[in-house]
Amino acid sequence: MAQEVRGVIAPGKNEPVRVETILVPDPGPGEAVVKVQACGVCHTDLHYKQGGINDEFPFLLGHEAAGVVEAVGEGVEEVAPGDFVVLNWRAVCGRCRACARGRPWYCFDTHNARQKMTWEGTELSPALGIGAFAEKTLVAAGQCTKVDPSVSPATAGLLGCGVMAGIGAAINTGQVGRGDTVAVIGCGGVGDAAIAGARLAGAAKIIAVDVDDRKLTTAEKMGATHTVNSRTADPVAAIRELTGGFGADVVIEAVGRPETYEQAFYARDLAGTVVLVGVPTPEMRLELPLLDVFGRGGALKSSWYGDCLPSRDFPMLVDLHLQGRLDLGTFVTETIALDEVEKAFERMNGGDVLRSVVVL
Ligand SMILES: NC(=O)c1ccc[n+]([C@@H]2O[C@H](COP(=O)([O-])OP(=O)(O)OC[C@H]3O[C@@H](n4cnc5c(N)ncnc54)[C@H](O)[C@@H]3O)[C@@H](O)[C@H]2O)c1
Ligand SMILES: [Zn+2]
Ligand SMILES: [Zn+2]
Repeated sequence: MAQEVRGVIAPGKNEPVRVETILVPDPGPGEAVVKVQACGVCHTDLHYKQGGINDEFPFLLGHEAAGVVEAVGEGVEEVAPGDFVVLNWRAVCGRCRACARGRPWYCFDTHNARQKMTWEGTELSPALGIGAFAEKTLVAAGQCTKVDPSVSPATAGLLGCGVMAGIGAAINTGQVGRGDTVAVIGCGGVGDAAIAGARLAGAAKIIAVDVDDRKLTTAEKMGATHTVNSRTADPVAAIRELTGGFGADVVIEAVGRPETYEQAFYARDLAGTVVLVGVPTPEMRLELPLLDVFGRGGALKSSWYGDCLPSRDFPMLVDLHLQGRLDLGTFVTETIALDEVEKAFERMNGGDVLRSVVVL
């Protein structure tokens, strides 16, 4: 029997989001229904609402979630009812050309639920194939990653997207190593996670750049050794000055704009690495002298989901957190109810929060 639950819908481009009753089908083969306990508000949810990702309205928003598996469909072996899981948007297929080459974090054919959740008979597009601003959601079983259940759901859920994207941008994509200098441009949830990742990896110097002093204060808490307000100082000059005149070994762009990408490009040392983890919108363009791209060497990489492998990275990061070696609690600025997501978007835009987390 399909179940009626409450969920947060983005009905159309730039329309306010609202709580509606949605219909969640019973899990079919390879699927699971998860009772959501917590789901963070990510900037990508706002991109969806603004039509910046695609036009497949109505969306069921929310994708940084943790909860308990309620029911599984036929053939599901990896999880069982009662398991505490973090939801992921990289349920790897095991068969595509990336998986076959032993690089499943690039999987080109990730799994989502086959059946659709609906609202008044209309099929919903769940954000990143998850849709977890809802009491329950339907996902592919491979989207459920079991972690130590002693972690708080509000904290664990954040690993499902932004925090994993940031930590992974530093550790997996940027390959930050012991003694490296790192700069992070944009210190929201994702940028701060990149800072935490760089600290975990043993970076010697971590320079946080933002236009908002409040964000720089939190960035210091997460491990930034230096801060630059790019409203009042030239970030490229400041990063060079803090790195002996050279630039940082790894610069992580966590805003998703051409001008901040250009800053990242010129703030890295020769043969350094730029990691783009911020998500641009379709109309954005980048213009750079091709000679500089060539002449400065190094690597220009983008990082989808921190190049993570959920089954490898989620349990490890939860364990490090429970051991006190990775502060994930600081990311949770506030916990809110399901009907407060629209307000949370405003607070995100106002720079007031790192993460608002819906707790159910
Ligand atoms: N690649 C991925 O897998 C992935 C995953 C999750 C989110 N994201 C993206 O990462 C980006 C950041 O997400 P978030 O949740 O941290 O957003 P956020 O809104 O919490 O943070 C953005 C930060 O950038 C700062 N900022 C804005 N303009 C700036 C500028 N010109 N220079 C310096 N700083 C500036 C803001 O003050 C804020 O602190 C978004 O584009 C989001 O879509 C990417
Ligand atoms: Zn694959
Ligand atoms: Zn996200």
